[in-house]
Amino acid sequence: MIDVQLYRYHPEQARQPWMQSLSLPEEFRARMVLDALEFLHEADPTLVYRRSCREGVCGSDGMNINGKNRLSCITSVAEALDKTSTLIIRPLPGMPVIRDLVVDQSLFFRQYQSIKPWLINQEPAPAIERLQSPEERSRLDGLYECILCACCSSQCPSWWWNPQKYVGPAGLLQAWRFIIDSRDQATVERLEQLEDPFSLFRCRSIGNCSWVCPKGLNPMWAIGNIRRELLKKST
Ligand code: SF4
Ligand code: FES
Repeated sequence: MIDVQLYRYHPEQARQPWMQSLSLPEEFRARMVLDALEFLHEADPTLVYRRSCREGVCGSDGMNINGKNRLSCITSVAEALDKTSTLIIRPLPGMPVIRDLVVDQSLFFRQYQSIKPWLINQEPAPAIERLQSPEERSRLDGLYECILCACCSSQCPSWWWNPQKYVGPAGLLQAWRFIIDSRDQATVERLEQLEDPFSLFRCRSIGNCSWVCPKGLNPMWAIGNIRRELLKKST
């Protein structure tokens, strides 16, 4: 059997959050953590977690598995265990827990909204589409794939301390995605909006964001690019 430690919290019960000791049949080693959660949920339907696509696309099942934020649907139990013997599942850190593995992501999405994640272009819309050259389009690679799972921001100490004022790695990766989009005309305004002590510069280059991103993206690189653009602007 595989030992499991599972974070539980039911606010209507007059008790603190607790770690529940459970076990899984050995065969789950080759399966995904989400499969394990489904199995445990069948035995205890009060267990709560988010999931939707089961394919690493929707971003809803980010959680902390053996110390690292990951998507449960694309993380195998064997991979999570690595050389340890206990599967430890907790909610994403740094966000208020609503129940069991479900966290309140309001601040995360407010920060995302703050960077205006849409194209700003005052020119009349063309009949079909705003064209880009292949080279312009390729600049969005490594950025557009973000699924807003929050694994990066939730693993970032700067975000834990200043979630109200620091945009966080996910929001900043998206900010860079619009700054360099050839169809966007608000580059200067976007950069100016980030030019304060907290929104961007609270990043301390710890790199947890790039370590955990389940899509292999590199928010720290995007943050560095924005910093360089701001530097160019001020010289
Ligand atoms: Fe998730 Fe990666 Fe996007 Fe962060 S950058 S929200 S970890 S997909
Ligand atoms: Fe959609 Fe895991 S369930 S990303």
